[in-house]
Amino acid sequence: MISDLNTRMQVLRREIRHHDYQYYVLNQPEITDKSYDALFAELKQIEQAHPEWVTPDSPTQRVSEQPVEGFTTVDHAVPMLSIDNTFSADELRAFETRVQKQLEGARAAYVVEPKIDGLAINLHYEQGLLIRAATRGNGRQGDDVTANVRTIKAVPLKLQEDVSLPASLDVRGEIYMSNTAFSRLNALREQAGEPFFANPRNAAAGSLKLLDARITASRNLSFFAYAAGQDPNAPVFEDTHWAVLTHLRALGLPVNEHACRVESLDEVLALCEQWQVRRQALDYQIDGLVVKVDRLDQQAQLGYTGRAPRWCMAYKFPAEQALTVVESIDVQVGKSGILTPVANLTPVPLAGTTVKRASLHNFDELQRLDVRVGDTVVVEKAGEIIPQVVEVVLKARPEESKPFDLPSACPMCGHATARDENGVYIRCMNEACPAQLKERLNYFVGKGQMDMERLGTALIDQLVESGLVKDCADLFTLTHEQLLSLDRMGDKSAANVIHSIHAARTRDLWRLIAALGIRHIGTQSAQILAQEFKTLDAVAHADEAALESIEQIGPIMAASVYEFFQNEENQHLLDKLLKAGVSPEPVQAQAATALSGKTLVVTGTLTQFTRQSIKDAILQAGAKVSASVSKKTDYVVAGDNPGSKLDKAQALGVPILDEAAFLALMDQVPDQPQPESGQLF
Ligand code: IVH
Repeated sequence: MISDLNTRMQVLRREIRHHDYQYYVLNQPEITDKSYDALFAELKQIEQAHPEWVTPDSPTQRVSEQPVEGFTTVDHAVPMLSIDNTFSADELRAFETRVQKQLEGARAAYVVEPKIDGLAINLHYEQGLLIRAATRGNGRQGDDVTANVRTIKAVPLKLQEDVSLPASLDVRGEIYMSNTAFSRLNALREQAGEPFFANPRNAAAGSLKLLDARITASRNLSFFAYAAGQDPNAPVFEDTHWAVLTHLRALGLPVNEHACRVESLDEVLALCEQWQVRRQALDYQIDGLVVKVDRLDQQAQLGYTGRAPRWCMAYKFPAEQALTVVESIDVQVGKSGILTPVANLTPVPLAGTTVKRASLHNFDELQRLDVRVGDTVVVEKAGEIIPQVVEVVLKARPEESKPFDLPSACPMCGHATARDENGVYIRCMNEACPAQLKERLNYFVGKGQMDMERLGTALIDQLVESGLVKDCADLFTLTHEQLLSLDRMGDKSAANVIHSIHAARTRDLWRLIAALGIRHIGTQSAQILAQEFKTLDAVAHADEAALESIEQIGPIMAASVYEFFQNEENQHLLDKLLKAGVSPEPVQAQAATALSGKTLVVTGTLTQFTRQSIKDAILQAGAKVSASVSKKTDYVVAGDNPGSKLDKAQALGVPILDEAAFLALMDQVPDQPQPESGQLF
């Protein structure tokens, strides 16, 4: 019964919201991830069968498939101010004195909250539904980042129904990236040959400003609410800040569990002391505590200076910093030729480890800081994050020091360098640069790729320097004798290396895809590509639309994969790998259908499928989806009001299926065996 199904859908949405609340707000999950996924899958299935029931507040509607072209500007109804900062207890006491003076001697209680090191956001809810999310910007106007913020699971799309709620509500809070998500992201970036984010804050900021919400969704951002945007003309929401926080929590918004209410400044000072140590145990970065006068009438009495409220003060922790000297600056060459300056430092203890090296990230950053050999520098470590040079102590600069010259030639091969189009990275442009080749080979044989255990860095160096290996395919034609010709290589070691190489010939397909070092494609995306396309041949021949139609593959990744396989040199390399006997394990095929291996184009409005669900169904049937009709198209699935694709299909004589015919073909087994996949190119 349709109405039963609709009721079930409503129940599922409510249950999922409830479990999101338990998980993200109360930190008390009631069910396993598996049971949660099952509820989600059931909801998705009902909505796919009834796309007309889908509403924007459904838990399935977090990720927009449509990248935006840019962000529009939003005016903040109530300006987003900043907070005055202090690093000292004395200044906090002076703050209390000012507060008491203005309150004419009345005592103030305070709420003390962790100062989350992320980005301020304003969430605008109407009738309990998230309508808009905007960044702070200049405080009066910010960017509309709604599509990206909707992907953050800690941000409710719909507020709890059984709690009193103003018709329109602005919620202020902080978007951040947890340390765990940050480490995972940087590990993936390393695998994909992309530069690291320096800290979780930068990573959160970068992720929030992506044009493709699907990528933001993969970044696992999180959120804490810390205030309601108080419109002086709106009815009073609550009478204390503490009550506001409690109310926000009841509405389903995640309020930091460590926020607390205290009666005196001495208690505030004790908390400042405690949290300098306690913060190490958190899975997110805090850079201080925010102290707020609790009573809203007292806040109103205290008012604002031009830029910050007088009722609020941030106590910032002293940064974990140390002074040391830059002994030399190395330039490292990455596998895609990016040159990275790295400072070698006089070893210095800092927050539990000894810091000897610090990345300077890129040459823009090096020039901005004007770091020179011999300089005394401030190195900083935020939590467990990579140490960074944050400042040069100019007073201590030796007289004879000279600015570090930008490399006009690669320090490894001497070939000319060039700046990237966006201007940040300088690259060695020599495709045959031995340093790049070594990096590429080390990556190719790495644990997360072809996993060729016996091929360590020292051996790769020898193989490149002896000229025996000029690309990764050469590894597979190495002979026992050639290996024996290398220094310190005995008979047994050579046999082990040959064995390791031989075993890698039949590694899983995803390993080979990952090992190719396609930009933006790490282990995870390689696994998705392998699962979707089953053979290297199919990945190599996929057009951008087919690649983009895969749920977790965004347009940037799709373009990168497509370009990689269009490149003649890469085609040559793949051919060479194939000839050298590399033959990855094909992914276990699903039961063949009459659509297996076919290319389909969809046009018009369908009744039983959404745009995404038909793509999924086509892929599940072992077929590909293409955006445009060509001679290579096997079928066009046409719904109501088809566009010009139908005319083109008719002109080219491509068979046209209505929904019923498509469904019938999906269930039909093929009448002849599917051809084996052949040569790569
Ligand atoms: S209250 C008018 N509470 O710190 C006061 N801010 O340096 C509004 N921040 O822009 C801010 N945690 O992005 C407040 N618990 C917290 C916070 C917090 C982090 C950020 C916020 C603000 C910045 C000021």
